[in-house]
Amino acid sequence: MNKLSLADIDPKGRRIFMRVDFNVPIADGKIADDSRIEAALPSIRYIVEKGGRLILASHLGRPKGKPEAKYSLKPAAERLSQLVGLPVQFTADCIGSEVQSVVAALKDGEILLLENLRFHPEEEKNDPEFAKQLGSLCDIYVNDAFGTAHRAHASTAGIAKYVNTAAAGFLMQKEIECLGHALSKAGKPYVSIVGGAKISDKIELIENFLNIATTILIGGAMAYTFLKAKGLATGKSLVEEDKIELAKELMSKAASKGVALELPVDHIVATGLDSTESRVVPVAETPQDLMGLDIGPGTARRYSEIIHGAKTIVWNGPMGVFENPKFAQGTFAVAKAVAESSAFSIVGGGDSAAAVAQSGVESKMTHISTGGGASLEFLSGRILPGVEVLSDSGVRHH
Ligand code: 3PG
Repeated sequence: MNKLSLADIDPKGRRIFMRVDFNVPIADGKIADDSRIEAALPSIRYIVEKGGRLILASHLGRPKGKPEAKYSLKPAAERLSQLVGLPVQFTADCIGSEVQSVVAALKDGEILLLENLRFHPEEEKNDPEFAKQLGSLCDIYVNDAFGTAHRAHASTAGIAKYVNTAAAGFLMQKEIECLGHALSKAGKPYVSIVGGAKISDKIELIENFLNIATTILIGGAMAYTFLKAKGLATGKSLVEEDKIELAKELMSKAASKGVALELPVDHIVATGLDSTESRVVPVAETPQDLMGLDIGPGTARRYSEIIHGAKTIVWNGPMGVFENPKFAQGTFAVAKAVAESSAFSIVGGGDSAAAVAQSGVESKMTHISTGGGASLEFLSGRILPGVEVLSDSGVRHH
């Protein structure tokens, strides 16, 4: 990583504004999954143990620029306090006079979490005045919010103009290093597993893998657009009609680049998502009135064999509608195969990370990204605004 790291900074006595991604799922006022808070703990502990005065800021959900109780970060302050074993102060806003006085009174090693940044529309608009107000709270800016690094918002991008030092936190650093390794220094055979509902969400990702992968395994509903492009009947399966030409182009590019683009050979079909009955059929025999909702056992076996031979695996997107146990077997089989492999394995965040967690094989992966959209954009080869604005590592900052 050619960016300044938190490890290069001495936090002692300094006011450190750290952007984190505490955008955690909340159900009935309770945090349903605190992995994003846990993932920020190494940076938080480092700053606190070294005597920094820590100001944490995050968004939660999409509150549309005004305060809404259900999007308050208060539960995150409480959970963080339990996890870190220290008090975490909380302010009802992220800018303004109350925040300024609480920040001014912060002592070495103390932690403050600000209320949801998106309660101000200026956050998502990347408003310079708002960014300046956030920047004025601190001596040093750290970004540990990899999950939000694809957003050019005030707290992730604009703020960098108003601070002397902008460093990557440890989570940000780990994400950039692991995902960066998968893009540039990866061993071959390189297997990328791409799933999910739509090709349209993954065009750039597939294009990028066509330059680096040995094999691309396609799963999820997006497989049907490819299968239809090959002239197969897809029944009632989800097909993006306007992407059939694109699917053809991707297949011919794969052929000309010598990349094996693998499609399912069998699948689980049913009348719909809630259907109680389902059956396995070869993709060439899809009944007209049924839709495919998961890859079949033959495909799972074939994909697992390919995965077992890989040196690098990058997985983004589930193989079927795994939220329903009837259509989860394909995704779980792939998770198991990746877990058994000794390859350098990366799981893109969001659904695939949830599927890996449900399969209970999280600890067997080299890296599970905390970013959904952010990991997708990074692996698609894009420069993330939240990374781009960080200070370069060559320069010493104190
Ligand atoms: C995420 O969960 O992907 C990030 O926290 C970004 O959230 P957003 O999609 O609402 O910008």
